[in-house]
Amino acid sequence: MKCQPYAITFILATAFLASCHHDADLTIAPPKPPPPGFEFKCSHDTIYFHNFVLPVIISGCAKSGCHDEATKKAGLFLGNYESIISQVTPFDPQESDLYKVLFSNSERRMPPGTPLNMNQKSIIYWWIAQGAYNNRCDSIVCDSSNVTYASSIAPISQAWCTGCHGGSKPANNLLLETYDEMVACANSGRLMGALRHESGFFPMPQGGLTLSPCEINLFQIWINTGKP
Ligand code: HEC
Repeated sequence: MKCQPYAITFILATAFLASCHHDADLTIAPPKPPPPGFEFKCSHDTIYFHNFVLPVIISGCAKSGCHDEATKKAGLFLGNYESIISQVTPFDPQESDLYKVLFSNSERRMPPGTPLNMNQKSIIYWWIAQGAYNNRCDSIVCDSSNVTYASSIAPISQAWCTGCHGGSKPANNLLLETYDEMVACANSGRLMGALRHESGFFPMPQGGLTLSPCEINLFQIWINTGKP
């Protein structure tokens, strides 16, 4: 896939946004670079569907009771590319229902409880603006030399886990928003079995997805080195 130069996309999008009247947020900064510890061998300025977009949608929208396969609230399942792209007009965030509900200031805004944060919204925005491709970056090199909660675990958890295991009604009554909560989960003995999809555990994150082997390994290293 060839992607438009980032700066040009940004300027065009900013000009476009400024030119229209919409009740959406108009300050969309490009998403943050990948967390430290990850070296992207793919393009640094491409928002990859599988690496960035899917975790946001799975933990923000495809939760049980919402847009997961079992509930399909409002007839809408949002757990894979085919279902998500049906709510998107590629290259045109402003024409995309997905973008409109995320950025709406009215009661249409989704998710209904805590809105997505600015980084998550900008991931969705830029993925659509770049063409909403079903792309993934597989050649992520794990830096497993200096694994700490702050550098390695928290970024993965914020991308993949806290959407369900956060807020006032966390899934399974399990909060994973802080260091202490992640330590407690690891100490319970349920964390690695869930991440590795071992039998007798609920596979995490939900929706038939697994973290990459490299990400799962970072959790194991973190535990083995005393959870720094
Ligand atoms: C889409 C919502 C969702 C996401 C995303 C999610 N979880 Fe869960 N999690 C649940 C639910 C719901 C349960 C309760 C079991 C069930 O019903 O599947 C659960 C259970 C668990 C359990 C207990 C498993 C067991 O067998 O005892 C652990 C540990 C866990 N989650 C960790 C995580 C971690 C770590 C992540 C991020 C990598 C994550 N979860 C992402 C919804 C989610």
